[in-house]
Amino acid sequence: MDESLASTIREQLLNLLYEHEGEFISGQKMSEMLHCSRTAIWKHIEELRKEGFELEAVQKKGYRIVSKPDQLTEHEIKFNLKTKRFGQTVHSFDSITSTQEVAKQLAFEGAKEGTIVVAEEQTKGRGRMNRPWDSKKTGGIYFSLILKPKIAIQEAPQLTLLSAVGIVRGIKRVTGLNCQIKWPNDVLINGKKLVGILTELQAEADQIHSVIIGIGINVNQKSFPKELENIATSLYQQMNKKVERTALLQAILLELEELYEDYLEHGFAVVKMLWETYAVSIGKKIKAHTLHGTIEGIAKGITDAGVLLLEDESGKVHQIYSADIEIASTK
Ligand code: BTN
Repeated sequence: MDESLASTIREQLLNLLYEHEGEFISGQKMSEMLHCSRTAIWKHIEELRKEGFELEAVQKKGYRIVSKPDQLTEHEIKFNLKTKRFGQTVHSFDSITSTQEVAKQLAFEGAKEGTIVVAEEQTKGRGRMNRPWDSKKTGGIYFSLILKPKIAIQEAPQLTLLSAVGIVRGIKRVTGLNCQIKWPNDVLINGKKLVGILTELQAEADQIHSVIIGIGINVNQKSFPKELENIATSLYQQMNKKVERTALLQAILLELEELYEDYLEHGFAVVKMLWETYAVSIGKKIKAHTLHGTIEGIAKGITDAGVLLLEDESGKVHQIYSADIEIASTK
């Protein structure tokens, strides 16, 4: 059978099983609804089992879904996803170099806005300033979102701040936990890093072709390598229980889409206001480690372009476009 037809039937079958969650649905009924033989249904059930679905079969009753795999597959992500565009096209991988690389290529080839690339593992996951991003198969979420906004290049950093806000709100919605944001793009909880965001632009002259938002979330990691132990944390470590990654990703996509639509229509004001309510560094004494050296002072706020304002001892206000921030002490 044609592979794409088979996967469409499998998708519809899964939808049926989900719609009847908690109850049995007979093989006969499924074969009628999906216009295929009972043998075909049985084969698809076997395939789903191989993918990690636990499906109970009882004679004369039919099949019932018992549990689903915690895998970020296209079907899992799209099932019951409430967004209009974000995540409605999914490219999912078991293992790739970096979701950023694939997303960039797809964007270049004309992928739709809202397309996501997600992987269970990245072999060359990277963070800001070309640092490596630990992306082993230990329960994290690694994904890249393709945006094609009609905004000026200098406004693009606003999208990093927008992403941080969407992530904080998505995490709150699913886990109830309150996270903080450290400028420009670290999401922290109890002072440790939970999420990293990498924003990369593809632009020509002064026109943005696409913005790739790469997001790495520490979800179900039980521990971290020694060198990260004191600076990184996961939702599992904070809650002492596993978090369903699909539900979290869906919630984040929804929050991101809502913020993005509002941003495109009304501008940066709402995102800026929300960002400031979640920010930890504002009003505090900080050290900004830039490529050109370290500046110390009080973080006064962000500009309408998302640039950090840092007032040094002499009262001079510096505009910080890119830096690592160290919170030196409380005010
Ligand atoms: C940082 O804090 O330095 C940013 C980390 C961004 C990591 C994510 S994981 C998904 C996407 N693919 C990558 O290679 N990097 C980003």
